[in-house]
Amino acid sequence: MTREKWSSKTVFILAAVGSAVGLGNVWRFPYLAGQYGGGAFLIPYLIAFVVMATPILILELAIGQRMQQGPVKSLRQMHPAFGGVGLLGVISAFLVVAYYAVVMAWCLLYLLQSFAVAWADDPETYFFGNVLQISDSIGQLGGFNGPVLVALAAIWLMIYFCIWKGPKSVGRVVLYTVPIPVAVLGVLFLRSLFLPGFWAGWQLYLTPVWSAMLSPEVWTAAAAQAFLTLSVAFAIMLTYASYKNPDEDIAKSSWITALSDMAISLFAGFVVFAVLGYMAYEASTTVAEVTASGPGLAFVVFPQALSLMPLPGLFSALFFFMLLTLGVDSAFSLVEPAIATITDLRPGAKSTRVAGWVCLAAFGVGLLYTTRAGLYFLDIIDHFVVSYNAILMALGMALLGGWVFGAEALRRYINDVSDWHVGRWWSMAIKWLVPVVLTILLATQLSTDLRNPYGDYPAWALSLGWATVIVPVGLGLWMVRGPRATVADSDSLAESQVADD
Ligand code: PHE
Repeated sequence: MTREKWSSKTVFILAAVGSAVGLGNVWRFPYLAGQYGGGAFLIPYLIAFVVMATPILILELAIGQRMQQGPVKSLRQMHPAFGGVGLLGVISAFLVVAYYAVVMAWCLLYLLQSFAVAWADDPETYFFGNVLQISDSIGQLGGFNGPVLVALAAIWLMIYFCIWKGPKSVGRVVLYTVPIPVAVLGVLFLRSLFLPGFWAGWQLYLTPVWSAMLSPEVWTAAAAQAFLTLSVAFAIMLTYASYKNPDEDIAKSSWITALSDMAISLFAGFVVFAVLGYMAYEASTTVAEVTASGPGLAFVVFPQALSLMPLPGLFSALFFFMLLTLGVDSAFSLVEPAIATITDLRPGAKSTRVAGWVCLAAFGVGLLYTTRAGLYFLDIIDHFVVSYNAILMALGMALLGGWVFGAEALRRYINDVSDWHVGRWWSMAIKWLVPVVLTILLATQLSTDLRNPYGDYPAWALSLGWATVIVPVGLGLWMVRGPRATVADSDSLAESQVADD
């Protein structure tokens, strides 16, 4: 059976950019920048982005394109012990999309209420009380929240119909879902330039706070955000690359994807901080005060600012429409690794059906987040999956690509097929920098979490978070020793590669 393919190179790049550019750029990046003091976050983020996340993106594209298989099979074929690293990526992407779709469901509810600007009187109560109907603590599930549940079902239907025909339907959808939100962001940017106070917002965004950069916490958050925003270390880019032809460009596509993603994050930062500057001006307080809102930024602070502008309904609708279109192509890319893995295992299975089951399963897991304690669970799972699983997967791929398979062999392959040349720096980054830095980050994160358990959650709830790390990592380790570990030896690519050379 021949593997499904993208209809053109441009379509692949659009799909990769669509996956990378998502809620992470417009919601997560600005609130982290705000939380860690604006410019203090920007520099570690840019460094981590260029020296770690982009090299990993190049690595993932190279592996997927060379091996022409889903994540588990690709990595296992490179070395039998590494299939579990692929599985870790697949499970993590699945866990993320289960809550990512819920955040999109909130956006949908906000979009529907935009023209009425229903939150104008009290945005905080509107978000926590009306939309989330949040319970007092994580122990009180409080039953399902009807509107969020229905919105989530609608989001999953939308995701399903974007991907049901594999790369073909994805290719058609991204022609719209990539340019449209960027254009809307442009409109919001122009609007924000006319808001009083925008300059104060920009100042905070761009002024470095050097002392904050000594904090390992800022670096861990910056590195994790760099991976997340580029969609690397979740096996997504590897899966997307497996639908390319083995002789297509890798380096240029990676840089186009990375630079577009970075540009959009930075651009979104300008819009968000201009609006925050305006908020501070309206409330006669400092920008630092209004930015310290954390994850509530997109659903409390921003809607409040929108409600204060002239034409609040129109700009609110534009904003939430933008978030939805930004999110949808990232959401379906997060489902692809699981679909590719299952179709690899059962080549005869109908892909429309596999896609349907995966979407249904993710909707099922997402039900937890539609309870009235959903936000608490979402916060915990996001913390653990993003700070541990992504870093472990990146570490596993760097060890496999850099040491077991050989960075230089991979670099030769990349340079053979690519329009742009990748220098020796890349091999050094994959072999040394990425593994060393990631190990340090992992150790710091672990010691922080063990010393002060995350949030104010009870131990049973945090153990759920730990389980989302320990179970997939355990499965991955089990695969090293499990029966399948020996199967792929004969067609190990490392050997064929050596023979080629
Ligand atoms: N990169 C996308 C974003 O920034 C999607 C994504 C989210 C990918 C989470 C991986 C993990 O929103």
